[in-house]
Amino acid sequence: MSAPAGRKRIHLAAHFPGVNSTTVWADPHSGSQIDFSSFEHLARTAERGLFDFFFLAEGLRLREHKGRIHDLDVVGRPESITVLTALAAVTERLGLAGTVNATFNEPYELARRLASLDHLSAGRAAWNVVTSSDAFTGENFRRGGFLDRADRYTRAAEFVATARELWDSWRPDGTPRPFAHHGPQFGIEGEFTVPRSPQGHPVVIQAGDSAEGREFAASTADVIFTRHSTLEAGREFYADVKGRLARYGREPGDLKIMPGVTYVLADTDAEARERAAEIRHQQVSPQNAILALEQIWGRDLSDHDPDGPLPDFDPDPEATVVQGRVRVADPVAVARKWRALSEAKGLSIRETVVESSGRQSFVGSPATVAAALEEFVAEDAADGFILVPHLTPGGLDDFVDRVVPLLQERGVFRTEYSGTTLREHLGLPAPVWKGGTP
Ligand SMILES: Cc1cc2nc3c(=O)[nH]c(=O)nc-3n(C[C@H](O)[C@H](O)[C@H](O)COP(=O)(O)O)c2cc1C
Repeated sequence: MSAPAGRKRIHLAAHFPGVNSTTVWADPHSGSQIDFSSFEHLARTAERGLFDFFFLAEGLRLREHKGRIHDLDVVGRPESITVLTALAAVTERLGLAGTVNATFNEPYELARRLASLDHLSAGRAAWNVVTSSDAFTGENFRRGGFLDRADRYTRAAEFVATARELWDSWRPDGTPRPFAHHGPQFGIEGEFTVPRSPQGHPVVIQAGDSAEGREFAASTADVIFTRHSTLEAGREFYADVKGRLARYGREPGDLKIMPGVTYVLADTDAEARERAAEIRHQQVSPQNAILALEQIWGRDLSDHDPDGPLPDFDPDPEATVVQGRVRVADPVAVARKWRALSEAKGLSIRETVVESSGRQSFVGSPATVAAALEEFVAEDAADGFILVPHLTPGGLDDFVDRVVPLLQERGVFRTEYSGTTLREHLGLPAPVWKGGTP
């Protein structure tokens, strides 16, 4: 079924709510972040909802806070492609997207794993290419943290191009041919072990917001995972990135923009707002409020009362208590903004953190949320959404049961899968085989 004239179809993906500050672990309905049954529950729910894909983030080192493992990371995190491969066996149509770092891996090995996943899932594999290379994370790897941002994207671009050469190295008739790639980043040759996979090229997703990141996405990616989740910021980002495509000979539809968004549903808008406030207070527990403050101030503030006032001094912009996490660009400015807010409204530390960070993107009755999602896409602020539930593993159930049918009624979401591969779900062009003359 196609969308009514002039109405854009919405793409939906499900982010597994793992070790991030959105997930409410204290909720009695919270399950394991590592048992296969959790991944399976969320993936099956997403497939029941006819979602385009299931998404896993990646963290390559346990983050630290004041020299101890960060509370959110004490539970650990399994490796993405392994989990996705297991999910391929319990789903049939759902795309399977994993975040894998281009700074610390090698093209031959990663291209092989992704092509294998594409075969085992019959064309549902996607790779979210990230580049994060803080030295702390890099200590886990031979390459260390030696790449600055521009070099990371240079390497990532050549990495993806090399992977695509490897994926193209088998002829479409199923016979292998040698490959050779000699560039500034990689010099490799030989034969690729995996035949051309069902999608030809697994879908490439990009997450990263700098000018270099946007340019990399415009030249290379099929999907962008972005944090721009308000209408205004979304429209600006959408116009900026889509505007970069023409210089690479690409059409606007060749790159889908999908912000990560959160949601809270209830029978009425008023109840949903009330629930949203409760969830914010669960996310920002008294202990988390102090952690958030320490991240900005870059020092121990455990002697502060979460229900009391903010520190009356500025952060030292050079100091940090966090390892493995991006530090805010201008902590002094953030601290002053938070203090001004707290003084103007008479807010405690905890209330200030609740007010200033991570408000839910879509709050309301299912009808309100469905209308807002449609508007967001119709207004060219996105092509779809990567939904980030706040509960593992049941946080998507409500959305699939109550919002998806309304989107279908509005004619902006599929009522069945029309294709079998992720490329088909996303409406992406099939890659042209660039293997050259056999
Ligand atoms: C929405 C979003 C999600 C990201 N998810 C991950 C992730 O799961 N793992 C990771 O190592 N980096 C992740 N990153 C970090 C990016 O790969 C990138 O390293 C970082 O944003 C810095 O690059 P930039 O300066 O271009 O933004 C994410 C970034 C964004 C914007």
